[in-house]
Amino acid sequence: MLKGAPTIQGAVPANWNIVPEFFLTDGKAGASVHLKGDISLYGGGEVTGPLLRNGQTIKLWNTDNGAYGTDDGKRLYQTHPWVLGVRKDGTAFGILFDSPWKSALTTNPDKIEFNTEGALFRVFVIDRKSPQDVLKGLAELTGTIEMPPRWALGYHQCRFSYGSEKRVREIADTFRLKQIPCDAVWMDIDYMEGYRVFTFNKNNFPNPKQLNADLHAKGFHSVFMIDPGVKFDSTYAVYQSGTAKDVWVKDSTGKEYHGKVWPGDCAFPDFTMPRTRQWWAGLYHNFLANDMDGIWNDMNEPAVNDNELPQNLRLGTMPYSTPHRGGDGLPAGPHLLYHNAYGRLMVEATRQGVMAAKPDKRPFILTRANLLGGQRYAATWTGDNYADEKFMKVSVPMSITLGLSGQPFSGPDIGGFLGNTSPDLWAKWLGFGVFMPFARGHACAGTNDKEPWAFGADIEKTSRIALERRYRLLPYLYTLFYNAHKTGLPLICPVFFDDPADVKLRAEDQVFLLGKNLLVVPSFAKDPQLPKGLWEPLNLVEGDGSDPYQAKLLIKGGSIIPAGKIIQHTGEPSIDQLTLFICLDSQGKASGELYWDAGEGWGFKKDDYCLLRFQATEKNGVTNISLIANQGKYNINKDIHQVKAVVVKNGRIYSGPINLKSGVLRTDVQ
Ligand code: GLC
Repeated sequence: MLKGAPTIQGAVPANWNIVPEFFLTDGKAGASVHLKGDISLYGGGEVTGPLLRNGQTIKLWNTDNGAYGTDDGKRLYQTHPWVLGVRKDGTAFGILFDSPWKSALTTNPDKIEFNTEGALFRVFVIDRKSPQDVLKGLAELTGTIEMPPRWALGYHQCRFSYGSEKRVREIADTFRLKQIPCDAVWMDIDYMEGYRVFTFNKNNFPNPKQLNADLHAKGFHSVFMIDPGVKFDSTYAVYQSGTAKDVWVKDSTGKEYHGKVWPGDCAFPDFTMPRTRQWWAGLYHNFLANDMDGIWNDMNEPAVNDNELPQNLRLGTMPYSTPHRGGDGLPAGPHLLYHNAYGRLMVEATRQGVMAAKPDKRPFILTRANLLGGQRYAATWTGDNYADEKFMKVSVPMSITLGLSGQPFSGPDIGGFLGNTSPDLWAKWLGFGVFMPFARGHACAGTNDKEPWAFGADIEKTSRIALERRYRLLPYLYTLFYNAHKTGLPLICPVFFDDPADVKLRAEDQVFLLGKNLLVVPSFAKDPQLPKGLWEPLNLVEGDGSDPYQAKLLIKGGSIIPAGKIIQHTGEPSIDQLTLFICLDSQGKASGELYWDAGEGWGFKKDDYCLLRFQATEKNGVTNISLIANQGKYNINKDIHQVKAVVVKNGRIYSGPINLKSGVLRTDVQ
């Protein structure tokens, strides 16, 4: 018997062939699982490559991987030691290898292997009747996202960097002037004083509080970047306080570890220590007194620039043997153990700090690095992609895979971060990127302007239409976020979720489902495998049907999708003109729901929310629409002033006003 033998958590059915075998070679533990029959494999978190993971190997070692160039993108910024298997009949299982150690995951159809460089670990097995149920099981083990503030569902505009308050105001004003919807402008590293975190550049960002007030007055929110590396500078207050609290990572001789990041030599907080997390959380108190709305934690793999070393000695992070001190349940251990947890521990502390500084607000935190379960603390994006078609296409399976690995709140840098973006690429990417859970345009320093108006008048119009479509769907998106918060189910899902037993759908990764009831077909999709059954085209905004760059939207037979009106930002009333898009099934029936609340704060936890369920039934050419349930005590009547029903049937549209409780529409040929 091995010392500290691994355990299997969860019942493994007797007739099952996935009982893991554990092994320990030279102190390195691994597990393998033999599979029988045809199984489609998914998961592994933030990975490049196809959605279907059969026959793939990925490395789990959080890496700052610009243009996904290292290891062919088979290791990226996050670690999700998790596999979802779907059997031929649509039943499914999940295997969670509970280890943050540096490792590799191979998903061959007959054998899954997980090899670590460290100690024995537990394996959790979930066996349920559908992939959706397995994801609910994963959420039972690792938690779900907290409800985001509603503004975070809007469009975000970013650049490395908008270099001055003046430029930030220009960007915000241009959105409003051109009537292109947007909710947030982002401050990348150049707002800081010499890249010192928690400081402001006195020349270019002299009055961040005023800047934030001005942005708020125009319906914008702001997100500011904070990296983990703290400039080694004995005159800098953050370095001084970290030193006084003894929070820095030290090497095995006890000397403070320094690595280069944007500001030059940096000290790194040892986030494994509870007192470090507490200190880090405390730094947000004064910072957030400037009223920024969101925090962006980056470079937290942690990334270290060691380019001055010979190629074969470069690690891109701190030496593997660097000790971390741990505490409060976390044992002391080397970087090899804690590297993949570094970003996750950092965002836990960030969230704690933001919550303490603004207890009445829902935090919005974006992180680049994370670990399975880290969705509880922060949303994510897929790092430094490149402005070309390959990266655009792979952004779909990447975000779906994150959703299948517990992280529903993700999206790529729309348009591509590195390299110049052509008008055509921007338009195609935005055309479906607006249906990703996190929708942000971003651009690297030195690349062309990548705002929606930067590509000429035609593409500006295309961009406006794309963003108006997202904003019209805000009530549906918000309802999906609530569902993700409650159940762990992703927002964007693979098409096989519509019919897990239809094996033809298993590899489709151009088209995706948004929730259960909308199919998004990007303009680049070639011969996609679409789910069977009735799906009708859905147009949301004038001109969206004829614009070749827009993704096609298809509404599922039997569903009702709540939509709002076109707004410029989420602070404007959306559902005062509520539209219910209805697609009846072959029995002439449809149903759907709408979740709504104040959009901010925690009232919804005390019942101050509203969950409406609608039903539609067609009989003799007349469709009856009725409200069949109304849960929660939020008074939605004050928000909804008009309700319109739109029945989409055989490519025709039947529409008319109804009242919230019930309505009748003629839906035969007129
Ligand atoms: C990293 C981030 C990128 C950011 C840049 C500067 O490369 O991934 O999004 O713009 O750092 O902070």
